[in-house]
Amino acid sequence: MDELDLTQLPRHIAIIMDGNGRWAARHGLSRAEGHESGAKSVRAAIEACRELEGVDVLSLYAFSTENWRRSQAEIGALFSLLSKYIHRELENIHREGIRVRIMGRREGLPDQVLKDLEYCEARTRDNRQMTLNVAINYGGRAEITDAARRIAREAAAGALRPGEVDEAAVAQRLYVPEIPDVDLLIRTSGEQRLSNFMLWQVSYAEIVTLGVLWPDFRKRHLREAIARYQKRQRRFGGR
Ligand code: IPE
Ligand code: IPE
Ligand code: MG
Repeated sequence: MDELDLTQLPRHIAIIMDGNGRWAARHGLSRAEGHESGAKSVRAAIEACRELEGVDVLSLYAFSTENWRRSQAEIGALFSLLSKYIHRELENIHREGIRVRIMGRREGLPDQVLKDLEYCEARTRDNRQMTLNVAINYGGRAEITDAARRIAREAAAGALRPGEVDEAAVAQRLYVPEIPDVDLLIRTSGEQRLSNFMLWQVSYAEIVTLGVLWPDFRKRHLREAIARYQKRQRRFGGR
């Protein structure tokens, strides 16, 4: 196991949790069972971050704006799993001092799901140990589009001049404006694409793809990704 440099931890880690379907197929199980198994890996990711302290934000891609293209049965299974997970895990998360934020389009979510999610945010709002940012009904393009729409609305109302629209103005209108840019982006299952995740915030993220399918993800995988991140030289366009 690589020794990690605790003074050089990524402040914000984002994970594209991919591979539940392939894991299920490999084990002769349904896709829903694959997702159920994947939900358990979330605990491993949270614990690995908490043990490291210094990781301030963990963002998890749970459901994309494009995932509505899946079957009704699979979508239903994903949302009922989410509710089950909240009921089982919220108090643990709260006890650990984790603040939950929900990132995505709230319109379009089933009422009960939205209620549960908003309860998570309210319950944990004063926690300061770490932020767990959960992307649900999230798309990077939708997020930037929604920010642009808010800017246009404010400009039309005379509250904002076009010359005042700079990067900071856009960033302030993203779904969760207070979170910093992503330092380390992890995708499991070996795929090497962004699939519309946090397009604005990953501009200078280091990308690490892991072959492991999400249900098999354990703490050591997160540590391995951080070790790889720490071997990179970040430049931000400078030299
Ligand atoms: C990721 O696993 C979970 C979600 C997208 C909700 P997939 O369901 O995409 O699994 P694969 O990519 O089909 O293996
Ligand atoms: C990205 O995975 C979305 C989530 C992990 C929630 P997908 O499996 O939906 O992405 P594609 O279809 O392979 O690009
Ligand atoms: Mg997938």
